[in-house]
Amino acid sequence: MNNLLQLKKINLKYQTGKDTIKVLQDIDLIIKQKETISIVGESGSGKTSLIMLIGGLEKVTSGKIYFQDQDITSLTEDEISEIRRKNIGIVFQSFYLIPNYTAVENVALTLELNKFEKPFDQAKELLDRFGLKNRLNNLPSQLSGGEQQRVAIARSIAMKPELILADEPTGNLDSENSKMISDILFNYVKEEGSSLILVTHDLKLANRAKKIIKLMDGKIV
Ligand SMILES: Nc1ncnc2c1ncn2[C@@H]1O[C@H](COP(=O)(O)OP(=O)(O)O)[C@@H](O)[C@H]1O
Ligand SMILES: [Mg+2]
Repeated sequence: MNNLLQLKKINLKYQTGKDTIKVLQDIDLIIKQKETISIVGESGSGKTSLIMLIGGLEKVTSGKIYFQDQDITSLTEDEISEIRRKNIGIVFQSFYLIPNYTAVENVALTLELNKFEKPFDQAKELLDRFGLKNRLNNLPSQLSGGEQQRVAIARSIAMKPELILADEPTGNLDSENSKMISDILFNYVKEEGSSLILVTHDLKLANRAKKIIKLMDGKIV
């Protein structure tokens, strides 16, 4: 197996009243194992929609998505969730941490739900690796934006997913924190051999990926 992910002639349309909005049109894309790809394009060009489709959080209108050679567009909601849980880590612009859980609890919960042994030890190790050794027992509200995003990334990749999807992960951060977050993501995929699909407005960040694709009005240009 060489292709981790393959998109074949993907279309996504939304129906609002009489109007049909073509959000994505005839998207073909292949992502190999260990490959890093950036997706750039103006606001509204379909970047988030594409991430949602790949993550199985949204259904295609037509076309096929193969993950590890399995057609995920034909699966049930539960089957897709199972594949996502085990293989795909998603990082959003907003962090969505559980507000009344500490940093370490936010990460450990994911590991615990997935029946990992010693979830707290593993969570601590990961947060330590991301420079948060002294923030383990802080609540999200007590952390800076950059720190919260590091916790969110730790949580998304705690399962060691084959594929990481990051939708403008530095969109809410200043340049220093953006640099730190992008270092964390790129070092991590290099060390663990995962693939990364990164949506970003930041061309410097986009350039760190092996390939850059540009979306315009729902098409790859
Ligand atoms: N649930 C929805 N219903 C109708 N239109 C939507 C919906 N979600 C997204 N869109 C439209 O799809 C287009 C692409 O959106 P999006 O994927 O969020 O773009 P981007 O992430 O590149 O800014 C936009 O025109 C947006 O208004
Ligand atoms: Mg978006």
